Amino acid sequence: MKRKRVKELLENQVTGEKVLVKGWVRTKREIKNVAFVALNDGSTINNIQIVIDINSFPAELLRDITTGASLAVTGTLVASQGKGQNVEISASEIILYGKCDPETYPLQKKGHSMEFLREIAHLRFRTNTFGAVMRIRHAMAFAVHKYFNDRGFFYLHTPIITGSDAEGAGEMFHVTTLDLENLPRTPEGRIDFEGDFFGKATNLTVSGQLEGELGALALGEIYTFGPTFRAENSNTPRHLAEFWMIEPEMAFWDINDNMDLGEDFTKYLIRYALDNCREDLEFLNKMIDNGLIERLEFVLANSYMRLTYTEAIKILESSGRKWEYHVGWGRDLQAEHERYLVETHFKRPVILTDYPMSIKAFYMKQNDDGKTVRAMDVLFPGIGEIIGGSQREEELDKLTRRIEELNLPLKDLWWYLDTRKFGTAPHSGFGLGFERLILFMTGMSNIRDVIPFPRTPRNAEF
Ligand code: 4AD
Ligand code: MG
Repeated sequence: MKRKRVKELLENQVTGEKVLVKGWVRTKREIKNVAFVALNDGSTINNIQIVIDINSFPAELLRDITTGASLAVTGTLVASQGKGQNVEISASEIILYGKCDPETYPLQKKGHSMEFLREIAHLRFRTNTFGAVMRIRHAMAFAVHKYFNDRGFFYLHTPIITGSDAEGAGEMFHVTTLDLENLPRTPEGRIDFEGDFFGKATNLTVSGQLEGELGALALGEIYTFGPTFRAENSNTPRHLAEFWMIEPEMAFWDINDNMDLGEDFTKYLIRYALDNCREDLEFLNKMIDNGLIERLEFVLANSYMRLTYTEAIKILESSGRKWEYHVGWGRDLQAEHERYLVETHFKRPVILTDYPMSIKAFYMKQNDDGKTVRAMDVLFPGIGEIIGGSQREEELDKLTRRIEELNLPLKDLWWYLDTRKFGTAPHSGFGLGFERLILFMTGMSNIRDVIPFPRTPRNAEF
């Protein structure tokens, strides 16, 4: 017989049917001569109830059906007498695939702390919370591809190992096969990468943008969706050393088109989650964050507030607040400032534009004022920055001058500059941090809990 998923059984509810179901025991309780087992197979947040006539099965088998054990159950789908479910399975045959020792299995009790579950990240998928988060994460990844595919964007695979620093921030992990115990040196005493695997210094990418631009300036509209790596020593609930980023890049789009895309795209993803992940969202709304669904619906219902960095600084300066980090024109905004604008002042998502040139990356289009660039950051409630992007500097002279001013390695970027020499065109793009999106969609409070295996400073277990 072909196995049916719990999700399907609970949805179809064709009673009287003989079915085969497989999964892991969540709980077992016995009343008189009947055992009730809640079985979960990961297909849904809900369990299916297995009703077992104790007299029809060996005592040894029944004893080994404990929380965490893995079973195959054949039985009849019947209308349930009990509360909480419409159907249940009256078991006629049970195969125990794997026992689960109650003494040592760490997921016995309910209500473990998130910190504890991080230490057993190899098992935490089996909890309701992580099941819900991972199903939502999957749905969001699928929706990202659907959104862009439906709109004629091409998925471009940009490299993970690169020789460049796309953000110019120097927060890169080296990639090398050199013997670290015995590094070859140049006559000047520098590390000699000539003998390294690629014959030059390489690193893990911090962003696929620069290669994405090359694609956009030929294919029109592209997007990347892949892992990115940052060796920034930020121990916050919103930073990972390895995170996934979605980066659309569009030829002939200006900053306003870019903002429209950022708003439409994030709203599409929220709508998709509300339409397709209802049960998981309701679970998270009940157990993790009571304001979750309301917040998702609220963001959908309102347009994002658009204003310049300069206007935002004025609002922050006249707020009367005491800030941990000083506010002033030319300084970068911190999470506390971003969240004040979104949560207290405007009470909806905010798109800030035209940041000071000095605090943004080299590739952003310079405004005529000589001080600001055509950057756009999208700020979300509870999260702060969820998207960072810009119109790109398409003029060769201005771009070259900026790279030189910042002492970035001009010669390594020859291929990037070629696009400005050969048929340059206005273009724009942005990066959406996938885990920040999942934080927003799930109401989870720590970014370590929305990625299967988080990588953070001093932590690369599993
Ligand atoms: O603002 P960022 O650094 O922008 C870029 O990398 C551009 N190249 C994107 C582009 O224009 N194509 O990063 C983009 C987004 C941030 O808004 C944030 O959501 C996320 O990536 N992000 C992180 N997420 C988790 N952990 C980190 N350490 C992150 N750093 C950035
Ligand atoms: Mg940014």
